[in-house]
Parts: sequence; C-alpha cells; structure tokens
Amino acid sequence: MLEQVKVNYLWWQTGVIYQIYPRSFKDTTNNGVGDLNGIIEKLDYLSETLGVDCLWLSPFYPSPQVDFGYDVADFTNVDPLFGTLADFDRLVQASHQRGLKLIIDFVPNHSSDQHPWFIESRSSKDNPKRDWYIWKDAKPDGSVPNNWLSVFGGPAWTWEEETGQYYLHSFLKEQPDLNWRNPEVEAAMFDAMRFWLDRGIDGFRIDVAHFIMKDPDFRDNPIENKPMHRPMGEYTSQDHIHDIGHEDIHEAFRKIRRLLNEYSQTSERMCVAEIHEFNLEKWASYYGDNLDELHMPFNFLTLTKPWKAYAIRDVVESLENVLPEGAWPNYVLGNHDENRIVSRYGKAQARVAAMLLLTLRGTPTLYYGDEIGMPSAEFAQSLDPWGQNLEEAGRDGCRTPMQWDAGPNAGFTEESVTPWLPISNDVHVNDQVSEPASMLRLYQRLLAFRKTASALQWGSYQTVGNVPEDCFAYLRETENQRILVLLSFSDEQQNLHLESLGTGHLLLSTHLNKDHNVDLADITLRPHEGLLIELG
Ligand code: NOJ
Repeated sequence: MLEQVKVNYLWWQTGVIYQIYPRSFKDTTNNGVGDLNGIIEKLDYLSETLGVDCLWLSPFYPSPQVDFGYDVADFTNVDPLFGTLADFDRLVQASHQRGLKLIIDFVPNHSSDQHPWFIESRSSKDNPKRDWYIWKDAKPDGSVPNNWLSVFGGPAWTWEEETGQYYLHSFLKEQPDLNWRNPEVEAAMFDAMRFWLDRGIDGFRIDVAHFIMKDPDFRDNPIENKPMHRPMGEYTSQDHIHDIGHEDIHEAFRKIRRLLNEYSQTSERMCVAEIHEFNLEKWASYYGDNLDELHMPFNFLTLTKPWKAYAIRDVVESLENVLPEGAWPNYVLGNHDENRIVSRYGKAQARVAAMLLLTLRGTPTLYYGDEIGMPSAEFAQSLDPWGQNLEEAGRDGCRTPMQWDAGPNAGFTEESVTPWLPISNDVHVNDQVSEPASMLRLYQRLLAFRKTASALQWGSYQTVGNVPEDCFAYLRETENQRILVLLSFSDEQQNLHLESLGTGHLLLSTHLNKDHNVDLADITLRPHEGLLIELG
C-alpha cells in the first residue's frame, strides 16, 4: 500500500538537494581551489555520513572566474582549474553508483566576455554573431539606450568604442547578456543542455532564469523604491518590470521543460530555477498553467524574513495557499549568495532552522557547510566583484572552504597551500561526527528520519494553532503516519497543551538529548528547541 502511494512521487520531490560550491569543497591538486576529484573523494560523506539525495554543483565551466564561474567561456567543457570532462564523467558515474542524483548549474542569461561567441559578436557590426548578444545604439545625446541597471552596480550598458554601440549586461560588464530572442542562441543553448544531459546528469539549477526574456521594446523601468532583502544600492530604485521576466519567459520555460521531458523518458530529469520574485502569484506562475514550465522555481521567501515564528509561519502558509494544484513546494535557507544560517539567525536558532527546512512539505536545498554550522566569515577586502561595488560586505563570507578536520587548512587542501579564501573558523566534520549532540549529528538524524518517514516526504501540511506566539507548530500527515513538528523561536521555555492531538512519542529533539516520553497535554520546549513527534 505504502509503495503504491510512493510511486507517484519523484526523486526530486522526496529527496534533499545539497549545493556544492566546487571552488570550496575539496582541493586535490593543491592549487587552493576545490575540484571535481575532490567532490568524488567526498561522495561517501555525502551519501552515507550525511545522507543527502542530490548534488547541485555551482559552475565548473571554463571561465576567467571574474564572477567565480558564473562568467562562462564555454558551456560544454570543464575548466582545468576543476578537472576534465573525464573527471566529470567519473563524478556522474560515482554519484549514480551511490544512488546520488547530480544536477549542474546552467547559466543561460549571459556568457563571459571571453566566450568565442562574444569575441566574434563584438568584432564587427556585421559579424554573424553580432545579434547573439544585445547591442543598441546610443541615444542622440550619446547616453545609454535606457535606464536599465546592472545587479552588480552601475548601468547595465557598456559602450564599445570599436563598433560604436552599447551592449547589455545585467551583471558585470564581463558578463554580456545573450539574446534569447535570436533562435540561433536558443538552439545553441539547448545544444549545451543536451550535451550535459547526454552525459547523464539529472537536471539543472538555472541561474537567474527569468532574466533571459526582456522587454522587446527596451522600455525604461519605472522609478520606484523596491527594497530587497539585501542591500543592492541603486538597483533597488527601480521596479524591474522591463529588464527581466517579460511574459515571453513562459514559452521559453515550456521549451526547456519539453527538452527535459524528452530525456525523462529514460530517467526523470528536472530543473530548479533561481528566481528572486517575491510577488507570490507571479512566482507561482513559473510552474506553468499546466505545470509545464519549471519543475520548481526556488523559493527564497524565507531569506527575506526575520527569525520569528509568525514570519516563518506566514511564509509557509502563503506558499501553501498560492501553489497551483499539483505544484511541488521547496525551501531554501542558504546558498553561495547569502549570509550563512548561523550568522543570520544565531547558533541555537540554526538547529531549529535545520528541523524546519527538513520537515516542511517540499524539497529542501542545503548549502555545503551549513550541516556543521559554518558561520559567514568576515573579510576586510572583497574578492567578490559584487562586494567591491557595494558598501556592504560581498559574498566571500559564505564561500569559504569546507572544514573537514582540525588539521592544517581544515583538510580542504595541504598545509603548504594557501586556499583561495581563508578557512573561516574551527567547526569541523570529523569532530562533529563523533560529538553526540553536534550540528552534524542533528542533520544526520533529520535526514535519516526524512528518508523513512512518508509523512515528511510527501505528507500533507497543516498549521497547528493554539500554540504560544513564539512557537510554530505543524502536522505532516499521510494515510499511514502523522508527524507533529514543534519549533520554538524563543530564548525562554515554552509550554504547549496539545492534548486534542491525542498521544505521541518523541522522535527527535534538536538538542539531541531528550528522553522518549512526551505528554501532549503538557509539552515543554526548552529555549530554541524543536521537537519531532510521531502521533499515535
Ligand atoms: C546568480 C548567481 O547565484 C550569482 O552567484 C551570480 O553572481 C549571478 N547569478 C550572475 O551569474
């Protein structure tokens, strides 16, 4: 019976995604930068010690690394910094042997300015690749074609003296935007996707996916103050209705889905896309009217909220309400662009956050190092180009090397080598594996429960009311199992009276040190404690 129900759910729905930032995972060549063989070396850690289901690799393509790999100079190869195509093939095979799925970052909106396509495009106005990028004449007074801004600061247009036109770059000037309205570009990018699908990957994380369709008339964005969850300077002074997410994006997403569907005939492939859209109806529209667009647009809403029970509950309920029938939710608490969880919420709170992320309805995405509670490092100077343009800190802090052990360079690279970013502090995998109440042990337990608990994998979600205001409680339920999740957001003890739910036994406390008896009529949550309770 249980099996019969389960067959309806796909690996990317029941599984947990783990993001690896290859530069920072494990260096096997002693150049201070992580590599593909380093990831292969750590696959047993990922599949057995930790117990995640799918790896997402940030870019490893040939790149001048101006934006640390998000400036791609060849969409169908591996940068020698990270290894070779043969290493990549071994990684796919070794992951699959362990039952791990592998998805890779795909960066469709822009290439590096060193990509041969752009080198050709900029060479002359009549080059066949001219229209592969977005070139525009200056206004009569010589100024930029419109008011669009680069996410990384300054105008989105750079003047090219040689050919007397501006080109568009939504990010750095070294990252010119591709022109997806040119069918040749679309075909070339689809070929690149096929290249990796043919090598056996299980799908893509699509970088700034909705940026690829812009207003064909290049109208100015309206001026309006639109603060984001992180400081973004002048970029937040506009309503970005024309430079991103033109309605033609839906057709582009349908095409991507059709391509993935072709490959899913043999094994299910998926895409999850980076879309920072906080208008929830609009965000939900990217699943497609007939669920024929993205498998999942990343849900970043939690990142924009304070660590308060009401705020997090509101995120979950709003999402549950807005999701189209059959659309699969997902949650993100960290990635290579964000302040780390421990630094954002606090150490004690991060344990409750782990329970939240791994027990909500939908696919969780974990970010390497969060499972050992790595904090964001602070640096006086920024390597991250965004950090160089902003007054605020850049993104280096959340990208420091993974800390494997207490040895030199935390086991990331050899002692004599200088890692590309300094090791951030003294939390380590090896210590935490044997510490009974470590963060890693908590993640292991949560992941292990999730693997066996139908209610956590695909059960329904229901908020439980009648709890103190600093608590968030919910039920996950299948025909065969009911799990109650109780989370405290307070540094004071909380008392809950939930006798109406019947009886239950404790599966797990985030403190990892509670006995197994729990009386639903009188539950005590210690400060910043989360409990997982199976109802009888
Ligand atoms: C979004 C990525 O997450 C970020 O790291 C990158 O800098 C920009 N896209 C530009 O590609």
